[in-house]
Amino acid sequence: MKISVIGCGYLGAVHAACMAQLGHDVVGVDVDAGKVAALAAGRAPFYEPGLPELLAEAGATGRLTFTTDVAAAADAEVHFVCVGTPQRADSYAADLTYVDAAFRALLPHVAPDAVVVGKSTVPVGTAGRLADELAAARPGASLVWNPEFLREGFAVQDTLHPDRLVYGVPDDARERAVALLDQVYATPIAEGTPRLVTDRATAELVKVAANSFLATKISFINAMAELCEVAGGDVTQLADAIGLDERIGRRFLNAGLGFGGGCLPKDIRAFMARAEELHADPAVSFLREVDSINLRRRERMVDLTVGVLDGRPLAGARIAVLGAAFKPDSDDVRDSPALDVAERLHARSARVVVTDPQAVANARRKAPHLRYADTVEEAVDGVDAVLVLTEWREYRELDPGKLFGLVAAPRVVDGRNALDADAWRDAGWSYRALGRP
Ligand SMILES: NC(=O)c1ccc[n+]([C@@H]2O[C@H](COP(=O)([O-])OP(=O)(O)OC[C@H]3O[C@@H](n4cnc5c(N)ncnc54)[C@H](O)[C@@H]3O)[C@@H](O)[C@H]2O)c1
Repeated sequence: MKISVIGCGYLGAVHAACMAQLGHDVVGVDVDAGKVAALAAGRAPFYEPGLPELLAEAGATGRLTFTTDVAAAADAEVHFVCVGTPQRADSYAADLTYVDAAFRALLPHVAPDAVVVGKSTVPVGTAGRLADELAAARPGASLVWNPEFLREGFAVQDTLHPDRLVYGVPDDARERAVALLDQVYATPIAEGTPRLVTDRATAELVKVAANSFLATKISFINAMAELCEVAGGDVTQLADAIGLDERIGRRFLNAGLGFGGGCLPKDIRAFMARAEELHADPAVSFLREVDSINLRRRERMVDLTVGVLDGRPLAGARIAVLGAAFKPDSDDVRDSPALDVAERLHARSARVVVTDPQAVANARRKAPHLRYADTVEEAVDGVDAVLVLTEWREYRELDPGKLFGLVAAPRVVDGRNALDADAWRDAGWSYRALGRP
């Protein structure tokens, strides 16, 4: 099929490359000329495992092109809208200016019988509003919402082999829209991927409901960590014990510094804002608490750091922060808990050095006042404490014996409950973690 992908960021670039991999003819469109130039040259503009290989493979077939010119989308039978929906600067609501601008730029190039497919995460009701605009401009075209559930770090795998597909379709063009999307996703459907057909409002809500649930699960275990801290319990043992109940499950019950990134925090806030507009705010008021628990972990991390310094003042203390990305296997620093803690420590006059396997360049752009190091060894050289704030595999597997000789004082604070506490203590380190004695 001929497909266009409007917006080639973390979601769209992967989607475009994967659609070409599935055999479609794809044009990716973005307003960012630098991103388009990189993608057109077969280079990934951000770190995502498997994406460089996929760009090379799909690029070699001639089925994948990138441009800043939205007119190049005119041939497409299906247009995927994948632009950003960040939090507005002045409220919790989603900023829809990118979606609206992309949609309006695309409209003149939509063929009379094409399908426009929204993938961005939007407040419920957005699809209906855009559908009215599309119906007025192109009466034969239809608008579908097909939310995306990919996880950064696993984006290629998740796009090629999704755990479910959700099509939010209009009543009047249901069969045609479903048939077209079934053609787009023929390969994953043939692999047995469950496919749910809903109305558009339900599809929009599915995405924010899923993210709200995941955020709630993380904040639940972090609330338990707060209680463990005051009562002398161990939240990792608590999580193991409750997680064995199949109704609860162990996944997403890792207590630590909490969630961040370009999705969960802004999605739960946008959900609250939209619910308020719909006079249904009590239904999701618990998300305010989910957000507060999450943010409290960051200040608690600062307190733990102060505690581990054994009375030495934080001001002037040398602190190594391992991790800047909001999660491992990504270079994304949007609302990164790790970077936030580094900034809080810096604001209290600690001498902070940050390192990350992939996210230093992005972190430097966002927080240029912090100091950065390229390697763990460089970062920990002569420090008074080491903080592990993003659970990259290379940090989980650090050899405490080797690092011992590099630091000024062997103190480690595990912000992700990712280290082997006994191994670090046995190697002579003073070990502290969130939610554990
Ligand atoms: N990143 C994820 O893991 C993920 C997962 C699921 C859903 N989502 C949702 O997908 C959407 C995109 O997220 P992202 O992380 O890819 O954001 P992003 O900021 O990485 O990418 C957005 C891209 O859209 C481009 N853009 C903006 N206006 C444009 C226009 N008018 N025309 C063409 N391109 C335009 C930007 O230049 C940018 O490259 C958001 O709604 C997000 O909530 C993201």
